[in-house]
Amino acid sequence: MKVAVLGAAGGIGQALALLLKNHLPAGSDLSLYDIAPVTPGVAADLSHIPTPVKVVGFSGEDPSPALEGADIVLISAGVARKPGMDRADLFNVNAGIVKNLIEKAAAACPQACIGIITNPVNTTVPIAAEVLKKAGVYDKNKLFGITTLDVIRAETFVAEAKGLDVTQVKVPVIGGHSGVTILPLLSQVEGVSFSDEEIEKLTYRIQNAGTEVVEAKAGGGSATLSMGQAACRFALSLVKAMQGEANVVECTYVDGGSEHAQFFAQPVLLGKNGVEKVLPYGAVSAYEQAAMDGMLETLRGDIEKGVEFVNQ
Ligand code: NAD
Ligand code: LMR
Repeated sequence: MKVAVLGAAGGIGQALALLLKNHLPAGSDLSLYDIAPVTPGVAADLSHIPTPVKVVGFSGEDPSPALEGADIVLISAGVARKPGMDRADLFNVNAGIVKNLIEKAAAACPQACIGIITNPVNTTVPIAAEVLKKAGVYDKNKLFGITTLDVIRAETFVAEAKGLDVTQVKVPVIGGHSGVTILPLLSQVEGVSFSDEEIEKLTYRIQNAGTEVVEAKAGGGSATLSMGQAACRFALSLVKAMQGEANVVECTYVDGGSEHAQFFAQPVLLGKNGVEKVLPYGAVSAYEQAAMDGMLETLRGDIEKGVEFVNQ
């Protein structure tokens, strides 16, 4: 299995690369790329860790050497938020970066599964889809917006609030990855019940957890370490499923035939070729249904912006 990380010298990229170096199956290749010249040095640094995963690093304008033969491409290249910004404010810079990197991936590793981390995810994933379509290599089962950070946050905050073992808590999070489009399905958490006030507070906190970190970092960027962990969890699930393990399910933002929007995050059964089956997200409470109805205009608008960006 060859995994390429684009944006590998950044806050997320370095954390993710460290986790992958430690947790990818023996014999895997980890290929790091970033426009920053430090990237071969990041790879050299990681290569001294005694695990059976080979690391190489590339920098400069062309990601192609890092992408050759990749089975999985994870993209965190781009700029991060500062206090006062929302994720949509990153569009002007990050849309072009994602477009360019996906063009290169379409040429160098057209069969690869691609996981997008770069914000605004609601829009960068549709951008990637349109670029892949133009290149004639779009497979909707192989493109993912990585929304796992919302899931691990929901699991952490629910466990804290209810005094549960955090390793046992499961919370599906559906919709998209920004503000009101993030919808944790707290009604589906097993073994607990929440008051209306708890549901409102927890939902608000999960939806705004990215801003909580951006403000706490006070201009120094957004979530990097928890995102590295989240992206590693998603990538390892994908690796396991691609290597034949059964019943691997993650919530992720996909072009999965949702009745709500072209791209929608929901539980997905992963398999040898990416998405094996988009799973139903099950019954929702009246509160969750109202939140879903309230998010759709925003989510569809975010998607349309990405489609237009590539086709204008
Ligand atoms: P960062 O600034 O620390 O790192 C970004 C890296 O991208 C830098 O090393 C930079 O050199 C590199 N880069 C910029 N342009 C590039 C290009 N054209 N080609 C290759 N590399 C390029 O930022 P970060 O904290 O790692 O965040 C990266 C992105 O991830 C941001 O857009 C952020 O909003 C997003 N993010 C998403 C989630 C999520 O849940 N999906 C969570 C946290 C952050
Ligand atoms: C997050 O949820 O932490 C990321 O999307 C980064 C951000 O800008 O909030």
